[in-house]
Amino acid sequence: MASSKTLTLIFLLLFLPISLSSPVSISVSPQTLTKSNRTITIRWSGVDSPSDLDWLGIYSPPSSSDQDFIGYLFLNASSTWATGSGSISLPLVNLRSDYSFRIFRWTRSEVNPKHHDHDQNPLPGTKHLLAESGAVGFDNPGGPEQIHLAFTNREDEMRVLWITGDGSENWVRYGVEEGRLEAAEKAAVGRYERGDMCDFPANTSVGWRDPGWIQDGVMRGLEKGKKYYYQVGSDKGGWSDIHSFISRDNDANETIAFLFGDMGTAVPYSTFYRTQDESRSTVKWILRDLENFGDKPVFVSHIGDISYARGFSWIWDEFFNQIEPIASRVPYHVCIGNHEYNWPLQPWKPLWAAYGTDGGGECGIPYSLKFKMPGKSFLPTGTGAPDTRNLYYSFDAGVVHFLYLSTETNFLKGSDQYNFIKADLEKVNRDKTPFVVVQGHRPMYTTSNEVRDTPLREKMLEHLEPLLVANNVTLALWGHVHRYERFCPMKNFKCEDVSSNVTYGASPVHLVIGMAGQDWQPIWEPRSDHQDVPIFPQPERSMYRGGEFGYTRLVATREKLTLTYIGNHDGEMHDMLEILSGKAPYTTDDFVAEDGDEVGAKAGGEGSGKFKFSHYLKEAGILLLGAFVGYFFGFITHCRRRDAPRNTWIPVKSEET
Ligand SMILES: [Fe+2]
Repeated sequence: MASSKTLTLIFLLLFLPISLSSPVSISVSPQTLTKSNRTITIRWSGVDSPSDLDWLGIYSPPSSSDQDFIGYLFLNASSTWATGSGSISLPLVNLRSDYSFRIFRWTRSEVNPKHHDHDQNPLPGTKHLLAESGAVGFDNPGGPEQIHLAFTNREDEMRVLWITGDGSENWVRYGVEEGRLEAAEKAAVGRYERGDMCDFPANTSVGWRDPGWIQDGVMRGLEKGKKYYYQVGSDKGGWSDIHSFISRDNDANETIAFLFGDMGTAVPYSTFYRTQDESRSTVKWILRDLENFGDKPVFVSHIGDISYARGFSWIWDEFFNQIEPIASRVPYHVCIGNHEYNWPLQPWKPLWAAYGTDGGGECGIPYSLKFKMPGKSFLPTGTGAPDTRNLYYSFDAGVVHFLYLSTETNFLKGSDQYNFIKADLEKVNRDKTPFVVVQGHRPMYTTSNEVRDTPLREKMLEHLEPLLVANNVTLALWGHVHRYERFCPMKNFKCEDVSSNVTYGASPVHLVIGMAGQDWQPIWEPRSDHQDVPIFPQPERSMYRGGEFGYTRLVATREKLTLTYIGNHDGEMHDMLEILSGKAPYTTDDFVAEDGDEVGAKAGGEGSGKFKFSHYLKEAGILLLGAFVGYFFGFITHCRRRDAPRNTWIPVKSEET
């Protein structure tokens, strides 16, 4: 008792002078927000001798200890900070707990370079608290938020996941008329606990916050390709806004998707890691494209390194809030990346793999529960925590078969994953889906100087590439390297002939698409004889590469798959790839025939010893006949190619060309 009094006295002697000389006041308005992303303004006054190290700590819940802030801003973010008064406005995301704000004085002598963030900037010290605000909260903190859709294993369903503050009964209600949401399904509910996290910072007071309850509703019995309206929640806990989506239609003759990796999260404050400001632009341009596509079925494919929360729980909340405008209207599909998963005791960790601690102690738990992808893949954590899920799965969307795989867990021959990939690729019906797109996080090919994963790439080439080649995979998309790079159609580093518009064999076109938001980039691989003064010649197999942030947009019809690379600085196309299926009828101008031979279609195609009907047929009526014949031969081609589909590749169209 006596010693605690002594401590209190010492504390008062230490800090009273600062408190007395700095009667700092702080206020926040409004004190209650209606929903996430509403802005509050924090005002302060009375800061004596203002310093550019004075800072504002952001806390949630308000009971957090001083060092457990979720973020901070320096007071000099306010233009009037030097007067000792100022204000800062920022939007808040509902973390299901109140926020509070504290102003600290941090002196230069207290800067601890060993206690730093991702950029080596020292984290601010909390020795001198000048003022603390009252609590700021949300009207309905436990209400449904973070809505995101996903396909299930059934074409006539759509899954929706959302977060609530408690585990009480929730529902999704839906219908084809906005005012009549007559169908309803009860949600399954689950959550994870701090004890499920496997390492720092996820399982410590710095990183852990209550993640809420994960509600999982499945809308059933949906008609194909229709617009449905829905909302989630309950009478007791409140209902979300009404959202809409277009239901799946696997008979559709068009497939549209946005694909990228490594997007991350933008937050309006500094925190323990550098966050991904550029992700805002990616979201912005995708929303623009979604508007342009109107009521067509679209989905998103985010191939690993998703939120970059890395053990700081609230970043997941910020992430799902950021993507909700997209993910509440189109399915949001993911595969696992190192930053969702890797941890020291992960169950499969061969010596050659660079599986470190990139998951920040999450060991895949938030990823496995906050998303629910189709398929049944799982891997026990071995810690008693929930299994790791969403590892490998596939689905058809219109004319494309999409396969997702995990580069973080066993993919070697004989593994469950390998067997799944093999069986899945072998059973694709190319008449139904002439295109096959495979996606995973770490790339099989890159010309960046990413040497840490060289042994892993060798294993991918040894074990997985033969499956991709043998099964005529159209595209192989990878993330992890934060650049865009497109390769030639390729097998074991060797390009198919790319000299002209010719029909290619089965080799897949690989692309790296990890450029959606994370800003760390490796250099390109230097030439071996110029290590000291690096030059970066582009190898022949690398057809286009760049460091611009952005995303890719896939549009496929039965005839043609087009993948465009959209740059974030202007929202324009920077590269484009077109692959023809060889499956479809074409116009007479494209129609090339030779006695008894296949009929092919190519943009501006040549045919050795072949002839173009259109050259001879001038009369309109005869052209019509030609069109009919074209369709007929197209059908023949279609049938002939059933057993051995061959892709036709059209060379690059880039901003340069
Ligand atoms: Fe990664």
